[in-house]
Amino acid sequence: MDRYAVIGNPIAHSKSPLIHRLFAEQTGQALSYEALLAPLDDFAGTLRGFLVAGRGVNVTVPFKEQAWALADAHTAAAERAGAVNTIAVQGDGTLLGDNTDGRGLARDLRFNSGVQLRGSRILLLGAGGASRGVIQPLLAARPDQLCIVNRTVEKAEQLAMMFNDLGPVSAAGLHWVEESVDLIINATSASLGGEVPAISPKLIRRGHTVCYDMMYASEPTPFNRWAAAHGAARCIDGLGMLVEQAAEAFELWRGVRPDTAPVLAALRQS
Ligand code: ATR
Repeated sequence: MDRYAVIGNPIAHSKSPLIHRLFAEQTGQALSYEALLAPLDDFAGTLRGFLVAGRGVNVTVPFKEQAWALADAHTAAAERAGAVNTIAVQGDGTLLGDNTDGRGLARDLRFNSGVQLRGSRILLLGAGGASRGVIQPLLAARPDQLCIVNRTVEKAEQLAMMFNDLGPVSAAGLHWVEESVDLIINATSASLGGEVPAISPKLIRRGHTVCYDMMYASEPTPFNRWAAAHGAARCIDGLGMLVEQAAEAFELWRGVRPDTAPVLAALRQS
């Protein structure tokens, strides 16, 4: 049976083993998928150890940049993202690094949530690794504008410069933008600390603006609570993105595309 795993630290609460088990059942693929805790100072050892027999891994916080460095080759998405969340062992034993986070986000927005990205005005909050991983697929959806807004504006400016050959991307500080947008995506880690980035509520047009937090939790995230209180048309969390990025990884490994809707419904119920 082909073996796969997700490697992270922490990892105990990862939903990836359940998601991939449901994908495997649904598509009739014989595979196993486990969660592996890597020591903070030895991701490489954990990866190598698993890949003696394993066929591929998912990589999560805080190892995605290290995974990028350890991959022998990168997909275009991973190259741009500077981070790898999926590794596939190729026929000759070399490691292909992909980044499926951004495609997962774009698919979740489009297909699960029915959000039109083409021609839209998007504000992307945050300029860390999570943000960098989704810029290319967002620009590929042809928005009217993508503004990266960050507390440390220089980091947003750097990212905008790295991607400005791909579409209309700009940068701003948290307080600089006040005109409403169609979609706000929170890619900061502020929710982890129970905080909301200090942006203007005027960014939300009541009953129109969609707000998306890449984080998810059993309760609405602080950002989504803030967005709802200011009249956002919809507040979406990152559970759909998690399932969609997993489906992209599954397809890379197995050549079969699972149906994500029943898996997302099962996760929401549990
Ligand atoms: P990740 O890989 O999850 O993106 P990161 O690289 O540490 O993590 O980036 C965290 C992002 O969240 C950054 O954009 C950070 O803003 P700064 O660059 O100014 O540090 C943002 N962030 C974290 N806490 C925040 C808060 N309370 N308010 C606003 N932005 C916050």
